Order: sequence, then structure tokens, then C-alpha cells
Amino acid sequence: MNAEAQKRAASMRALEFIQPGMRLGLGTGSTAKHFVELLGERVRAGLDIVAVPTSEATRADAMRYGIPLTTLDETPALDLTVDGADEIAPDLSLIKGGGGALLREKIVAAASARMIVIADQSKWVDTLGQFPLPIEVTPFGYAATLRAVEAAITSVQPGGPLTLRKSKNGNEVAGHPFVTDGGHWIIDAALGRIEDPKALAQALSAVAGVMEHGLFVGLATIVIISGPDGTRLVERT
Ligand code: A5P
Repeated sequence: MNAEAQKRAASMRALEFIQPGMRLGLGTGSTAKHFVELLGERVRAGLDIVAVPTSEATRADAMRYGIPLTTLDETPALDLTVDGADEIAPDLSLIKGGGGALLREKIVAAASARMIVIADQSKWVDTLGQFPLPIEVTPFGYAATLRAVEAAITSVQPGGPLTLRKSKNGNEVAGHPFVTDGGHWIIDAALGRIEDPKALAQALSAVAGVMEHGLFVGLATIVIISGPDGTRLVERT
């Protein structure tokens, strides 16, 4: 089973948790895309749910598949969010934001009673940090925020290269900073190891100019991991 088949298998398993009448959060990325497509099939077969997308890309997919959408303003409390992740540690802390949607993903996950993370096996790690940690910042005062982010990181652990994410999107000027749905930029922090995700999360959240960071601690309730040998479910204890 290749990675795409594993992502789809995890998405199929997540569908088992969806009940009629649920208010859902829809994640972003290549794994969540499978889930949105499969959910759309169920909706067209008569499943009654409403959903809040975590990005404009997911909004477009959901609309294409006929999924009824709402907003957190209309529906501020959700039953369940299903989303992907870039890394998952055994305590179900996560790195997210590889696709640049981490701010809305975190707002939606925090508004949900439960969060199910779907992933292929490559996302499961012993310790977070091999995947560069995305940190979403406001463009105003970028250089000052960058210095403060560096200081926040080194106050709790060894630092590493901090890179302003550049746009790969042909719609934008080549070399221009990647711009999130919220109009912010992203710093990718290549830290190698994050020994204490909670401490780092707190330090980053305290920096003026940081809108959000990609450490999701205490949000995922269930992880569904799919590998060549099948799919397993891990619950937060
Ligand atoms: C989007 O910003 C991310 O948080 C994604 O959820 C994460 O990058 C996982 O994406 P893939 O499913 O494409 O690996």
C-alpha cells in the first residue's frame, strides 16, 4: 500500500466516527482531502452534517463535493474535527502547518469536542522536531518578531535555522513570502528535536507578532495511522 492508499485507508476509518447531525471541522492537506472526498460521498447518499473548513482550499473541495458549510460564527461549538498532521508523537502532540493552514486548523480544533488525526505511517515519530516547526507571524515588524522567536526557542531548548517560507504558488511572485489565508507569513524552525512541546508552545505563544504556531498539544484525542500492514487507532490516555 503506497502513502496515498494509506491516507485513504485512514480517512475511511475516520468516517466510522461520523454520526448524523454532527457539526464537523474539516482539515487541510493531502490526507484531509481524501476524507473530505469520502465525506462528500456520504453526504450525497443522505448523511446530514454541517462542516467548517480550515482553509480556502478545503472550502473549495467541500463545496465541490456538496458538503453543507457553516462558520464558527454561526456554529461556534463543533462535535469533531478530522485533520492530518506533519508529525505525531506517542502522547499525540502534533506538528501541523506544513500546508500553511495552522491558524485556522488550531482555531477549529480548539472549538471541537474531539479531534481525530488521520495519517500515513510516515507521520508517526518518537520525538517531534524532524519536520520544521511552522510559526505563523504577522508581516508587520517581521525582523523584530524573528529575533523574538529565536530568543523564545533558545529560552527552552537548542535553536536551529529559522527560514521564512517562500511561495511556490505560480499565482504569486516567485520568491515572495508565502501568504496564509489570514494574510500572515510563516517561519519554519528546523529544530531537529523538540523535547518539551508544551514549554516551547508556551514560549512561542508569548511572542508579540506570533499569530500561532504548529505545535498542537492536548488537542488530538484519537490518531488513526495507516501503514502497509493495516490501520491502527491510538487514543490519548
Ligand atoms: C496544513 O497546514 C497542515 O497542518 C496539514 O494538516 C499537514 O501538513 C498534513 O498535510 P498532509 O496530509 O498533506 O501531509
